[in-house]
Amino acid sequence: LGQELTYFDATDSTQFTAHKLAQEGATEGHVVIANEQTAGKGRLGRDWYSRKGTSVSISMILRPDLPPQKTPQLTLLTAVAVVRAIKNIVGIECDIKWPNDILLKGKKLVGILTEMQADPDRVHSIIIGIGINVNQRSDDFDPSIRDLATSLAIEKGKTVERAQVISAVLNEFEHLYDLYLNEGFTPIRSLWEVYSISVGTYIYARTMREVIYGYAKGITNDGVLLLEDEKGQEHKIYSADIEIAS
Ligand code: BTN
Repeated sequence: LGQELTYFDATDSTQFTAHKLAQEGATEGHVVIANEQTAGKGRLGRDWYSRKGTSVSISMILRPDLPPQKTPQLTLLTAVAVVRAIKNIVGIECDIKWPNDILLKGKKLVGILTEMQADPDRVHSIIIGIGINVNQRSDDFDPSIRDLATSLAIEKGKTVERAQVISAVLNEFEHLYDLYLNEGFTPIRSLWEVYSISVGTYIYARTMREVIYGYAKGITNDGVLLLEDEKGQEHKIYSADIEIAS
């Protein structure tokens, strides 16, 4: 991983670039990194803010020979890798909120965006984008997210070396990805459940159609969240925003 690396001082979005490189034939493990993104993108068409020098923006191109429905497993794996890298490098323990948010004291620290693409004459590619808030101060965040977002520097009270964060994330990812390719999802799922705050608790799941309140029982091997509502009926949540009920 990272043997092939494309680095930008500034780009619109590492995610767009990774898609383009994958179409042109980039191989498994190609990593795109930017110092600044001018049009970073988040899930569900949202913007992702990554101003110069403050955040870590990575997109990785993977080509595992797996059926597409297993892709969510890689998102969960990525979240585990980032949580462990942050613990190793800065000693901060953060939580995973299903499916792919990493929170620190309830505020967003990391976003992960996983996308798939069919490439001519090759195994399809999976592009995993990771955005980590590293050195932002509170007023660096857009006012619309200021109360909802945090950074490693805010938590530590000092700046954090971004290069160290990048290499720790790539190392941890490589290690877990090898484990996954050799032993499957089971060991990753156990780790994910250790770091998750959205399992074993009552939550609101806001889907495209409705809001469901219930007890989050766990995740399936496909990364689907299992929610039992107050009538005891089980719901499979494929995509939603989760709020932990207090
Ligand atoms: C989210 O929580 O909405 C996901 C945010 C993903 C942001 C990362 S930063 C690197 C990569 N490039 C992008 O434009 N987005 C992802």
